[in-house]
Amino acid sequence: MADPRIESIVARRVWDSRARPTLEAEVRLSDGSSGRAIAPAGASRGSREAIDLRDGGTRLGGFDVQGAIAAVHDRIAPALKGLTAIDQSAVDQALIALDPSPTKASLGGNSTIAVSMAVAHAAAAACGEPLYARLGPASAWQVPLPEIQILGGGAHAGRRIDIQDLMVVARSADSVEQALEMTAEVYLAAGRIMAARGPLCGVADEGGFWPAFDSNEEALQTLLKAIEAAGYVPGDEVAISLDIAASEFGSGGRYRLGLERREIDSDGMIEMLGGWLDRFPICSIEDPLAEDDAQGMRRFTQAFGSRVQVVGDDFLVTRADLIEQAAAAGSCNTALIKPNQIGTLTQTHQALLAAQARGWGTIVSARSGETEDSTICDLAIGWRSRQIKVGSIARGERTVKWNALIRAQERLGSAAWAGGRWLPVSNA
Ligand code: PGA
Ligand code: ZN
Repeated sequence: MADPRIESIVARRVWDSRARPTLEAEVRLSDGSSGRAIAPAGASRGSREAIDLRDGGTRLGGFDVQGAIAAVHDRIAPALKGLTAIDQSAVDQALIALDPSPTKASLGGNSTIAVSMAVAHAAAAACGEPLYARLGPASAWQVPLPEIQILGGGAHAGRRIDIQDLMVVARSADSVEQALEMTAEVYLAAGRIMAARGPLCGVADEGGFWPAFDSNEEALQTLLKAIEAAGYVPGDEVAISLDIAASEFGSGGRYRLGLERREIDSDGMIEMLGGWLDRFPICSIEDPLAEDDAQGMRRFTQAFGSRVQVVGDDFLVTRADLIEQAAAAGSCNTALIKPNQIGTLTQTHQALLAAQARGWGTIVSARSGETEDSTICDLAIGWRSRQIKVGSIARGERTVKWNALIRAQERLGSAAWAGGRWLPVSNA
């Protein structure tokens, strides 16, 4: 039978976890198979990432996506109609030809990623395989190690604390199932500690507790206490992972710590974070310096890159060229991989391969605005990304991803587990 071709593409408005509209694309093939996918949305976005095409104005906070839906119907669908769906690279090349700008400035990364992922799902359906099975050889499939948020801050929690994500990594877990159980124990312990110590402000955008603290360090101490209260050895069994998201409070070499009412320079940031690495069992630190602070990022990586994973998110925005530049300069040793930062699956894969080719780690990541779409789980498994980041262990748009990984581990067996002992701990 001939390879199925793209027959139609429909885009519709659906809703994300922040009550904002987003775009779902549904692709139908000539053999009757179909696939769909939903674009996620970030709140602490890198300035070099693909744009989110939004309508602006006052309705729905300016977040409506009628323009993005029109871009799919009027420009993308006619260009992709008739293409072979199992040739993802040709489909993505056609999308790139329609908008060759690195930021998908005219089509919007939300339109292109929804279509690119929906085509992949349709092709998988046509082949009768799970999506991850189409992305790499069976020998490569791996269930990734999660980093999971316990406390949320920064742009996701009214900037109550400066640090955006305080996460845990269950280093000693023997499966993703066990990693989630260990994380749930820490999450529940953190909830008890927070409730006992005073006003609990609910949960932040990614499901972690929304903390009321007097300093960033108090948040770190609380997380450490929660790990201990849950009965785990900090560092050895459960380590801390941080996303500083420093671009949210720093630029031009100056960093304004809102909570502590002080401003420090790049060296001050490196010294403060270095102190945390000495005092807390930290295995990973993301965007420790701002996206415009290449010098600071290099100095930080030189100083601490052997003791801790240094992750670039806003700094690298899932771009192979920026990853190559950073590797040449000695900045970062791990890339966060977010498909909607670059706008097509093929370019997302190129960024991941660029990182892996340099011996870097990779963390496939969700966004703070999410839905029931769990495509990133397939990407992490099929592309053999050793790690994944999805937010907290509460709220359906997060648990849909964790639960998908549990099912995948059941199918693939314990030999496919990425494990966590290989991650160094900063104060070990
Ligand atoms: P986002 O941030 O709000 O841009 O999705 C998540 C992150 O910084 O990892
Ligand atoms: Zn980040």
